[in-house]
Amino acid sequence: MSDLIFAANWKMHHGPSATRWFMETFLNSYRPASGRRVWLFPPAASIDMAAQLAGESDVRIGAQNIHWEAKGAFTGEMSAAIARDAGATAALVGHSERRHVFGETDEETGRKVRALLDAEMIPVLCVGETIDQRERGQTLDVVRRQLGVLAGISPDQVASIVVAYEPVWAIGTGRNATPGDAADVHRAIREWLSDHVSEPDRMSILYGGSVKPGNTTELLAEREINGVLVGGASLDPGSWLEIVRSGLD
Ligand code: PGA
Repeated sequence: MSDLIFAANWKMHHGPSATRWFMETFLNSYRPASGRRVWLFPPAASIDMAAQLAGESDVRIGAQNIHWEAKGAFTGEMSAAIARDAGATAALVGHSERRHVFGETDEETGRKVRALLDAEMIPVLCVGETIDQRERGQTLDVVRRQLGVLAGISPDQVASIVVAYEPVWAIGTGRNATPGDAADVHRAIREWLSDHVSEPDRMSILYGGSVKPGNTTELLAEREINGVLVGGASLDPGSWLEIVRSGLD
């Protein structure tokens, strides 16, 4: 079985000073555990600080977003290469806030996935339905459509892609999917991957949406859930430590 991934999405929180505080506090108590990997996605301006303080630890740093072009006149944007130069080795792609607040399309999401693979970085492709879509029974159609950007990815690149299922109605609302409901969608994602990409078993599928210390263990008890992507509950080093140690103590 592949390692469990614990990914923290800090969104627009923790500039370089707060990142220093977080890293020093967290790393002071953090002990790597076999079979578990910890990834942090700070805001762009804090990537360098986070990467420097992560140093030789096994904590991986990622970007929350990148632009698909390698360079050029794109004011306000950051290429995969720039993120990598700052210390990021992964990036979120297609997070629901990118899709719904900033109007990012599937096509743009697909270009970002390819730009990251070209830069030898790990794309964490986020997919998930809104509450309206869920109530209309469209969850699996929406998720499959969003996964479509992975069709045709070459076999040697597939292993470095991570998918995160994040139902939009569960993000930041305190209302998480039940472990069983999440596992059902994860199974459907796995099936889609089996049909459309080669060697899908090497890909991890994370769950995100109101994950906290109190529900991580039960989510990870589902075989189909290979890790968690955590927003609000990852901002405090103590709460994040509890999440990455869930089920160990
Ligand atoms: P949340 O956010 O844990 O605050 O619900 C998760 C995410 O948006 O990645």
